This record gives sequence, C-alpha cells and structure tokens, in this order.
Amino acid sequence: MKLHKVGRLHGELHVPGDKSISQRALLFAALAEGTSKITGLSEADDVQSMAACLQQLGVKIEQKNGICYVHGRGLHGLRAPAGALDCGNSGTTMRLLAGVLAGQNFDSVLIGDHSLNSRPMRRIVEPLASMGAEIETAAEGTAPLKIHGKKLRGITYALPVASAQVKSAVLLAGLFADGKTVVIEPEQSRDHTEIMMAAMGVSVTQNNSEIRLGAERLQATEIEIPGDVSAAAFFIVAGLIVPDSEIVIKNVGLNPTRSYLIDLLKQANAQIEIQNNRNANGELIGDLKVYSSSVNGFTASGAEIPLLIDEIPVLAVLATQARGRTRFRDAKELRVKESDRIEAIDINLRKLGVQLETFADGFKIVGPQELHGGLINTFQDHRIAMAFAVASLIASGETEISNAHVATVSFPDFFDKLRHLSRQEWH
Ligand code: S3P
Repeated sequence: MKLHKVGRLHGELHVPGDKSISQRALLFAALAEGTSKITGLSEADDVQSMAACLQQLGVKIEQKNGICYVHGRGLHGLRAPAGALDCGNSGTTMRLLAGVLAGQNFDSVLIGDHSLNSRPMRRIVEPLASMGAEIETAAEGTAPLKIHGKKLRGITYALPVASAQVKSAVLLAGLFADGKTVVIEPEQSRDHTEIMMAAMGVSVTQNNSEIRLGAERLQATEIEIPGDVSAAAFFIVAGLIVPDSEIVIKNVGLNPTRSYLIDLLKQANAQIEIQNNRNANGELIGDLKVYSSSVNGFTASGAEIPLLIDEIPVLAVLATQARGRTRFRDAKELRVKESDRIEAIDINLRKLGVQLETFADGFKIVGPQELHGGLINTFQDHRIAMAFAVASLIASGETEISNAHVATVSFPDFFDKLRHLSRQEWH
C-alpha cells in the first residue's frame, strides 16, 4: 500500500466492535445456558478465529441481519474437536480457550500462526497446572498447546505480570474447578471478563487488586458490543496530528481500564470531547469528537502501561509531533505482542527520519520532528501497519507499507475509513 500526506481529516465514522469484548462475548455465550444475542460484534480476523474454534467445539453460531446468535452449550456441553484448534494470530483466543479446555473431559490441541507460535504460553500453563491441568508446550514454552482435560481445583494466584489474558484464563478455568478461585493483579488490566461474567450471573467480586470467583453457571443474555477504543486510537491520533482536522468517532467503548489514552492526551493539551455517554451491560460508551491540537510531550510508566498497552505504537507516532519529551517505560510487555513492538517502532520511525532512544522496556522521543516517507516493515503486526499508516498522513513524499492487509486482524476496513476521512485514493 502506498500512502501520501493529506490536507485534513473531516467527518464521522464508526470503528469495529471491541475485539476483546467480542471474543469474550462469543466464548462466554458458548458456555452459557440458552441463546445469547450479540449486537456490534467485530468481524476482525481474531474474532473469527475464536468463532471458528468454538464451532469446532460443537457451538452453533448464526448471523442474521447483523445480529449474532450463539446457542450456548452450558459449562459441560462442549464436544471434543475433530482436529487441532487454529487460533490464527489471536493471543486472546489461545489463552482464554486454554483456560476452558484445561477443565474438559476430552483432550485438545491449540495451534496458531508464526507470530502466535512464538509468544509466551508458560504464563498460562503454570497457573493452570497448579489448578491440576495437564498442558504440554513446545520446548520454548510456546504453542502448540496439547491439553489433556482434567478435573481442576480452585487456587489463589498472584499474577507475575498484569495480563488480562492470563487473568481470564485462570478465571475461566475457575468456572470448572472445585472451590474458590482468587486472582491478584500487580496492576489493573482490562476487566471485560469480570464485567461479562457478572452480567451472565456469575458471582465475581473485586476487592482492590483481588478478584474472587465462585464456580457457577452462566446465563445467556443480550450483549451490545461497544466500538473498539484501541481501533479508535488510530483515528484519534490522526485527527490530532493532521492540521485542520475535525472528526467524530461514534459509540466508542470507554471502560476506564481501556480509555486511559484519552485522559493522558487531554492532560497533554489534546482537544477531545466526549459526548452521549451511556452504559451497556456494565461497559461505558460515548462518542468522541477530536480536533487537530498542539499536544505536549508526556510520560507513561508503571500502572499506566496496562491501561494503554495496545495504543503505544500509535502514541509513538503522536510523540514525534508532540512538543518536548515523550517517554514510555515499564512497557517490556510490548516485546511479546504480535511483534516485538519496541523494535518495530524503532526501526520504522527511523525509516521515516525520526530520532529516538529505545530501552529494554520502552522508548523516548523528543518532538516535534519532520517525517519523510519510507518503506515500512509491519512485521505482520496489525497495529504497526495502522500506526504507520497514520504516520504517512503527515510524512513528505510517499510511504509504502508492506503487507498492509494485516490490519484485518483487528480492523477489516481501516484503510477504507482512512480514505473516506481524507478523501484520497491510495493503491
Ligand atoms: C487482551 C489483553 C492484552 C492486550 C490484547 C488483548 C485481552 O494482552 O494487549 O490485545 O483481550 O485480554 P495481555 O493480557 O497479554 O496484556
């Protein structure tokens, strides 16, 4: 894909349904009793990976007039799959399914693409093993995961890293375990699992960093999925850095464990207005109005990082235009995402002529700096492809993005939406 600098961004858009909530909606509805009705489900590749795995486990999923119906099989109704379950590029699919499959009375195998097969899985295998699970990994502690279904027991587990995927894997296994399951987080991570379990009738209680779960049943329900704030982030940053822009992003999920980038940017002088606030099944939703702004440099570290982990690639692009120093520290989790995102940010920003300093756990950029077009290597990572598409909007000359189609992992019509707002034709 070849992209060029644009004059301004103007107009209104919807972003896909939240990826994390869409995947949980399908999975929890599959484990519930009765038929759940899901509106606003994302059509992203990762969500389709979750749906395909559930179908192989005997779950019937139907789409009618844009509404998704999942016929729940109850906690004990999944069927042994005929072959390996392919989680594609999706860490959430693999880690959450592992929590469920560990407690079944059948065996299963989880596989993924090249990127997913190199991501760390011991972080779920270890707590699940202490619940009584039997899971074999490759020698490096990576997928394929061979899961021998076992009777599980509840545990109290202090997470070594703030990870919603690990937290959710343990809580899901807890649904199949005897006794209580308690998870303690070092820092708060996204809480969609807790919110959705509660909406489906499970008793989940949260006390500071401690989440307790009693093994019960899930009841089918109606689920409205908000727009994905992590997808909106690309347009928020684009609207802020392209001169004379004014855009409205409708129905964005504003769960505080996800929307911290908005607070951070507003503190740094970004003009972002939140309109039409409401609540759907415990998740906050609102419209965002974004104006071009002169943003100041900022620092994010410690407990702030899990609250904006997926937005850091596009915030790195923003940092090149911010006045003064922007720093991200304590973000070494970026190294084990769909790509090593610290390296991908470093290599690609340099290709656009940006100077930056990288660390094992983050990076520092002093802005504003001028961007010049260049050839972007996405490392097959959807968020790197989209972050650098945003960078191209303000770069002189031409920016070429290899494998730009990888954006479909989380945002199938990302480039169409960008074209529409900028009224440009790209090839
Ligand atoms: C996710 C949790 C985060 C996030 C990922 C989705 C989830 O990962 O980066 O994109 O749906 O639970 P970790 O749990 O590894 O932090």
